[in-house]
Amino acid sequence: TSPIPVIAIDGPTASGKGTVAHRVADKLGFHYLDSGALYRLTALSALRRGTDLSDEHALAKLAEHLQCSFQGGDIILSHENVTEAIRAEEVGNTASKIATFHAVRHALLGLQLGFRKAPGVVADGRDMGSVIFPNAVLKVFLTASVAARAERRYKQLIDKGISASMEDLLMDLQARDDRDTNRTIAPLVPAEGAHVLDTSNLTADEAVAQVLQWYAAIGK
Ligand code: CDP
Ligand code: CDP
Repeated sequence: TSPIPVIAIDGPTASGKGTVAHRVADKLGFHYLDSGALYRLTALSALRRGTDLSDEHALAKLAEHLQCSFQGGDIILSHENVTEAIRAEEVGNTASKIATFHAVRHALLGLQLGFRKAPGVVADGRDMGSVIFPNAVLKVFLTASVAARAERRYKQLIDKGISASMEDLLMDLQARDDRDTNRTIAPLVPAEGAHVLDTSNLTADEAVAQVLQWYAAIGK
């Protein structure tokens, strides 16, 4: 029997990973793993409990005992719907800080592997193809210029009725990129054998079509 297929989609913030991974999973009838949500859930938990954000051991314990579930598009943490709450910029920034701790990453490993269920899974994050699913059948690294990504985040916020400053968004994005790229463990780099796709001038649908085409070509 062949192993359950994994499509790994990694890339920097606002490269379109979530959008593309979700749509690819829908098209193929696969499960979907939003690994960033797990780091965000741990961050939200820590912020609410007032956990010392430099206490690696305490943070890892939080990660290991996360009471979370994914129901349709909703993300539940200890019976509370936190789908919106985990998207706050503060939560994202905290997630990217605690994601530099080895013990935190290790604590979230089992949870992530559990998403590999028949008929397959599309997983998005930073290290899906490099660390979590090194034997993924397809690895994609999405990128886009900092300007294009800031523009996308800006639009997402405005659409939600949240005011935003382009200048702040650009600064935040660059800080997050630096942290994710330069950390020593599971840094943000294309996995070996990954297809790199620059989506600066592509629509989300065009990026989805390209990923599906790569998937269809496997084994041919
Ligand atoms: O998950 P990640 O942070 O990489 O990005 P996202 O949350 O999926 O956000 C990307 C945003 O850019 C969404 O509003 C998409 O509709 C839009 N977009 C995209 O995902 N891909 C493109 N090629 C162009 C726009
Ligand atoms: O939506 P965005 O791309 O900004 O972030 P996300 O995918 O929700 O992840 C939030 C943070 O968690 C990122 O900035 C990463 O530092 C971290 N992360 C990680 O280290 N490894 C992953 N597989 C996924 C997220």
